[in-house]
Amino acid sequence: MGIDSGSRTGVGTSVEGRLAGKTALVVGGGQHPGETVGNGKAAALLFGWAGANVMVADAHLDRAEETAAEIVAAGGEAVAHQCDITAEAECEAMIASAADRLGRIDVLHNNVGIGTHDGSPTRITEEGLDIILDVNLKGLVFTCKHAIGVMRPQGSGSIINISSVAAVSPFPGVGYKTTKAAVNGYTQSLAIRLARDGIRANVIMPGLMNTPMAIEANLQYRDISRQELVEERDRQVPLGRRMGTGWDVGYAALFLASDEARFITGVALPVDGGSSARIG
Ligand SMILES: NC(=O)c1ccc[n+]([C@@H]2O[C@H](COP(=O)([O-])OP(=O)(O)OC[C@H]3O[C@@H](n4cnc5c(N)ncnc54)[C@H](O)[C@@H]3O)[C@@H](O)[C@H]2O)c1
Repeated sequence: MGIDSGSRTGVGTSVEGRLAGKTALVVGGGQHPGETVGNGKAAALLFGWAGANVMVADAHLDRAEETAAEIVAAGGEAVAHQCDITAEAECEAMIASAADRLGRIDVLHNNVGIGTHDGSPTRITEEGLDIILDVNLKGLVFTCKHAIGVMRPQGSGSIINISSVAAVSPFPGVGYKTTKAAVNGYTQSLAIRLARDGIRANVIMPGLMNTPMAIEANLQYRDISRQELVEERDRQVPLGRRMGTGWDVGYAALFLASDEARFITGVALPVDGGSSARIG
């Protein structure tokens, strides 16, 4: 494939061929506009560069199309699909479209998640909590529900859900914390339930990442410069005093998606530069 994935991501080695012959659906594979790469887009690009035929789904079609176009420009295969996962009917239609356009679904990567509309225990609102539950939990559950219907007859599949280290560490917002903890619990029960079908289910818990979602969203309500915000977040990370990037989450997802992880299911993997190790 005509892309030097190693130098583009700063890791050095190529991912070529690691997902050869596989198909992948990346939900939330677009990204918030910004200077750095998002977690979902990074995973989608790495899957495509590694040889998978990828469907990139996103509520914003233009974002999905941008990711798909980058994969195709590198010589890979990708299509885009518009879907708001807060409606079960849209999740069902997305899975049907993926099965139809890709032929099968080997990898399902659920990246969608929001930290907005949240509140402390005394400030959370009914409307805000409903929105976070719908986006962070309900959409993921219904996407999995319909994807399982495709994976079961295949006798294989890898489901990768994105939660957060907020699931296992102190976090001020009620909605984000509880939905991410629920994603961990849900993925664990999926793993047990689907093991007999040859389907693996794992969760990645990103820590402090230098992604547009984290940086741009924070800048909106903090009276602080971008540089100060980045430095403040960097200081909190044990490993090298530097945030991770979308590529770090993407590489973890690539491993879990591949046959290299064929005996791994039910795992909650922190990708956080050691932040959660402080908790034990
Ligand atoms: N960036 C961090 O520091 C950090 C830390 C921990 C966990 N996470 C998790 O990582 C994930 C997001 O990472 P990212 O950097 O790719 O974010 P991103 O916001 O750039 O990408 C998410 C994509 O999801 C799409 N989306 C939002 N709502 C949707 C919906 N209802 N239906 C379909 N698509 C929808 C957005 O349009 C966007 O393109 C979230 O699950 C988040 O909780 C991020």
